[in-house]
Amino acid sequence: MHPALAPFTFPRGSRTVKNRCVLAAMTNKQSHDDGRLSDEEIRWLTMRAEGGFGIVTTAAANVSEQGKGWDGEFGVWSDHHLPGLTQLAAQITKYESIGLVQLFHGGMRAPESITGVQPVSASENGGRGMNGTVSRALRGKEIEAIILDFGMAAARCERAGFQGVELHGAHGYLIAQFLGAKTNRRTDKWGGSLSNRWRFLQSIIRTVREHTSDDFLVGLRLSPVLTSAGFEIHDALETVEMCTKTELDFIHVSCWDIDESVEHEGHVRTYTEWFEHVLDGRMPLVSTGMIWNADDAQKAIDQGTDFVGVGRVGIAHPNWPDYLERGSIEPVRPPFSPDHLTRAGLSPTFIKYMRAWDGFVTE
Ligand SMILES: Cc1cc2nc3c(=O)[nH]c(=O)nc-3n(C[C@H](O)[C@H](O)[C@H](O)COP(=O)(O)O)c2cc1C
Repeated sequence: MHPALAPFTFPRGSRTVKNRCVLAAMTNKQSHDDGRLSDEEIRWLTMRAEGGFGIVTTAAANVSEQGKGWDGEFGVWSDHHLPGLTQLAAQITKYESIGLVQLFHGGMRAPESITGVQPVSASENGGRGMNGTVSRALRGKEIEAIILDFGMAAARCERAGFQGVELHGAHGYLIAQFLGAKTNRRTDKWGGSLSNRWRFLQSIIRTVREHTSDDFLVGLRLSPVLTSAGFEIHDALETVEMCTKTELDFIHVSCWDIDESVEHEGHVRTYTEWFEHVLDGRMPLVSTGMIWNADDAQKAIDQGTDFVGVGRVGIAHPNWPDYLERGSIEPVRPPFSPDHLTRAGLSPTFIKYMRAWDGFVTE
């Protein structure tokens, strides 16, 4: 049997998942304007649970109304999201898969054109994707309010029947903006040294724990390097070390390409190897990036990950775990026709969005 098909029991909380195949969070623009899940979004995720993924992660969902980064985004900031959340959780659970909601706040990447208010961040920041605007620095009380929003959102997800959440600390959104030295230039307790910059994330982890049950899964997704934010591999590894002292259930390293490696303290290792080097078995690890077939999944496991995360292959192949069975054929690679993607459960809106991903959809 492929090792990614073996069950896994989380050491904290003792929840067992039927295999180590994780559908990574993927934005798909299918939610309603007020953040409620659409039937199309519920269907596409349900098909991946039915297709055999042990863990199905939702798209990034904003925990505060003003943390919304793009149109069609899924929201978890109010109880009016509960009916859709409850329906999705029931569907995922029906197929004995574990459902995780990815919680985030866009921060400086929640544009005024979407939210109606100036974007906020750890500091005043401008830059890529901000159309010449700048964020304003959050006040202390506002920081506390957003931390509480994460807690309330997690509680809402649990109430709806989800088994856990993944905190989105990767890819340059608000948590990453606090972690990065370039985007966080505060001089109060929330900025300065990494241990101060990490206080926002640490407080979120604590608050989410306080608002959820003991066996509720709480994971964290991190980028190994985010140079634009001022977050380098040594910051990532120090953050991972600090995470081992918290009540997180897993760390998810967002590699984009599991073959990529980086030099640190005179050694060259892949991102997965570095994360596992620090974790040393103390906390489960998920790794994602360019895993397409059974050999890629094996390679990620050989690098030290416990779970194999996939994005794009899971869009094209709802039953991707089947391709890990011995003797199975290779999953077909992009480009995919709109017909193929429709059969895979994508709505026209999602297919249109996938055209933005180079070479994924046929002309
Ligand atoms: C359409 C699309 C949407 C994505 N949205 C998110 C997201 O909401 N949150 C997130 O953490 N990563 C997001 N990602 C990144 C994926 O989770 C994954 O890390 C990335 O696609 C690399 O894995 P892959 O090579 O298997 O596709 C997205 C990727 C794609 C292709």
